[in-house]
Amino acid sequence: MTLSLGLFMPNCSNMPSISTHNVAPEQWHYSNNEKIALYAESVGFDYLFPVSRWRGFGGETNFLGESLETVTWAASLLSATRRIKIFSTVHVPLYHPFVVAKIGATLAHISEDRWGLNVVSGWSRREFEMMGIHLDEHKERYQKTAAFIKILKDLWSGNFPVNHSSKWYQISDGESRPVPLKPPEIANAGTSEDAQIMTTQLCDWAFISVRSIEEAPLLVSAIRERARSESREVKIAVFPFLLWRRTRKAAERELGRILASTDRVAAHNWINDLMSGSGSFDDFSLNMLASSGGAIHIMGTAEDVTDGLTKLYEAGVDAVMLTFQDYLRDLKRFQREIAPRLISRGVV
Ligand SMILES: Cc1cc2nc3c(=O)[nH]c(=O)nc-3n(C[C@H](O)[C@H](O)[C@H](O)COP(=O)(O)O)c2cc1C
Repeated sequence: MTLSLGLFMPNCSNMPSISTHNVAPEQWHYSNNEKIALYAESVGFDYLFPVSRWRGFGGETNFLGESLETVTWAASLLSATRRIKIFSTVHVPLYHPFVVAKIGATLAHISEDRWGLNVVSGWSRREFEMMGIHLDEHKERYQKTAAFIKILKDLWSGNFPVNHSSKWYQISDGESRPVPLKPPEIANAGTSEDAQIMTTQLCDWAFISVRSIEEAPLLVSAIRERARSESREVKIAVFPFLLWRRTRKAAERELGRILASTDRVAAHNWINDLMSGSGSFDDFSLNMLASSGGAIHIMGTAEDVTDGLTKLYEAGVDAVMLTFQDYLRDLKRFQREIAPRLISRGVV
């Protein structure tokens, strides 16, 4: 199997850096997202994943503050495209599984099974408290997500009636029609042990954060091992931030410009929320979060970036959801300068 290519899309403002050095301030607009999606599809990318946010992180950038909702966003992009798979990112505390079952069935029918679900269990208290929604303690959050996914899979399988009783849901004599032609793929975005347990038991994809390329092999094999112990397989996706220039020095200078303009207020709000709610980015430094929003840095020259992606592939990663400073500009550069190198190495 080769490495699948996807994008972690800029459907929110100020992606990917928590910085006022923002070279493409309007790329979050829908028309620009559609251009990016069409271009990615035309050059053979396989996946688009969106970010789901309900409020920004304040500061001068209000990082991720303008965000396109990901179910309606996916519906429109699925109609605009023909082949690429498009996911929606859904916060479990905000949706009932019957609503997502119906959304998924509808989008599967609209798109001939190109839609997928990326589940997030929630972590940002700023976001949930403004809605008056209580965020459960970490382990419980994932227990609820497990119940949510079990109900969803039962509803999508068409084996009615669906019955379920747990602390979170009471389902009796349940059904939801139509069922999707094929059950949509389910990803979980999260890296903690609680996330890994739930994902390897129930999901098709583990969408994880990794601090560095060097740490990827260990994490990937730990997740694979967990899945094997459940007699299952999960695919693993990571999200790198690619920044390359003709020389390493020039790439470092650009990184320097991003960091020199870090929006410290937004970055600290992000980190405060992470500390209370997420295990995914615990060990990331402020600079890493500020420059890439938690993506693995792969920087330098085109050859360095090719090496980095090759290492992720060799670590057993199935797909990379790429992020860029200016998605359309950099995707075109990626096609010219990096894709041919990856092809000649047999990576993609
Ligand atoms: C790759 C990745 C993508 C994520 N995308 C989102 C997102 O779009 N919206 C969101 O609220 N949380 C997102 N999260 C956060 C997780 O869903 C999760 O709630 C939080 O990180 C807690 O994860 P943990 O299990 O590692 O503690 C993402 C996490 C990862 C690792």
